[in-house]
Amino acid sequence: MKLNVRWSCLLCLVLIGIAIEGVQCKVVQFIFGDSLSDVGNNMYLSKSLAQANLPFYGIDFGNGLPNGRFTNGRTVADIIGDSTGLPRPPAFLDPSLTEDVILESGVNYASGGGGILNETGGYFIQRFSLWKQIELFRGTTELITNKLGKQATDKFIGEANFVVALGSNDFINNYLMPVYSDSWKYNDQTFVRYLMETLQNQLLVLHNLGARKLMVFGLGPMGCIPLQRVLSTTGQCQERANKLAMSFNKAASQLLANLDSRLPNASFKFGDAYDVVDNVIRNPNNYGFDNADSPCCSFGRIRPALTCLPASTLCSDRSKYVFWDEYHPSDSANQLIANELIKKFGFLAGGNSSAPVPAPESAIAPSPDEE
Ligand SMILES: *[C@@H]1O[C@H](CO)[C@@H](O)[C@H](O)[C@H]1NC(C)=O
Ligand SMILES: *[C@@H]1O[C@H](CO)[C@@H](O)[C@H](O)[C@H]1NC(C)=O
Ligand SMILES: *[C@@H]1O[C@H](CO)[C@@H](O)[C@H](O)[C@H]1NC(C)=O
Repeated sequence: MKLNVRWSCLLCLVLIGIAIEGVQCKVVQFIFGDSLSDVGNNMYLSKSLAQANLPFYGIDFGNGLPNGRFTNGRTVADIIGDSTGLPRPPAFLDPSLTEDVILESGVNYASGGGGILNETGGYFIQRFSLWKQIELFRGTTELITNKLGKQATDKFIGEANFVVALGSNDFINNYLMPVYSDSWKYNDQTFVRYLMETLQNQLLVLHNLGARKLMVFGLGPMGCIPLQRVLSTTGQCQERANKLAMSFNKAASQLLANLDSRLPNASFKFGDAYDVVDNVIRNPNNYGFDNADSPCCSFGRIRPALTCLPASTLCSDRSKYVFWDEYHPSDSANQLIANELIKKFGFLAGGNSSAPVPAPESAIAPSPDEE
């Protein structure tokens, strides 16, 4: 009897030992970004002026109610994650986020209005800059370490996929706006260099915190977002903004190639979808789009309205518009961008990137379209 108890205890110790030793953590994603990747953080930043918390944001996603995404459907990171079979990480500020949720699904720190630079988007009052997001991630690693211990945490973090997707706001809501001091302190060249130095430091901190698989998404032709066109008298794309996006992409591509070769045991990659989006904007019909210059959700003729509002009007076919609002691509455009990035990053065809977001009919049916 006594022996039996001992044996069974030994057995259970062994089992616990195996459980701890070989904790089979899931592969999850940690996402760092701006409004293009935000899945709800800003909804909890009550003072932030960068919000997607009103209809018709989210109209083609889930139950069709606003969910914090700055688009009608999925973000690019949603689509890429889905295609690699990874769970969609919840927003860091989601009150239901616990250690167990993090171990199952990762975390998304992205915040509308955020930039690589701390000073970017100051105008929005509240947003997580990339430095802030990294600080929050450090907190996450500490939580997980308390739960799993250092070794298992290192393994969990090392196997996770990291996405870093910021930069547009550093131009559109900083350098290109004369109210920000960076616009007069730097020129085009020195500003891109400043961004690269900052980004390099940030990526090295992430590497220090255990990131080993990391992708940086580049910028699209941001001079062609509806907001930038409205700012030009002719309605054309702002060539200066596009050139800046190209210099950013070129410099970031070199930076990542350098880090990738320098950092031991790490895969740090860069990819952008600039050329494809540029093509779509020039020849929307070739890609199944009807409109590539105005937002699907727009506030009538009083443009540019900063956001899409309940009083806005919607285009009649959302899948035919490249842009959802003044700043952000539609779900269909995000699909196209994601397909290009998947190609660039050379993912093995693990998942199914062409599967559309499951949106109930009811969410699509009562679209208050037509002016
Ligand atoms: C940026 O903000 C972080 C806090 O989020 C702070 O720790 C850091 O010192 C700031 N960096 C600069 C260059 O201001
Ligand atoms: C790279 O990873 C392998 C296997 O995880 C490990 O044995 C090795 O020490 C690592 N090398 C460096 C330089 O970290
Ligand atoms: C992807 O989805 C499409 C349509 O939903 C389906 O026809 C195709 O077989 C799927 N491919 C894979 C690799 O699962």
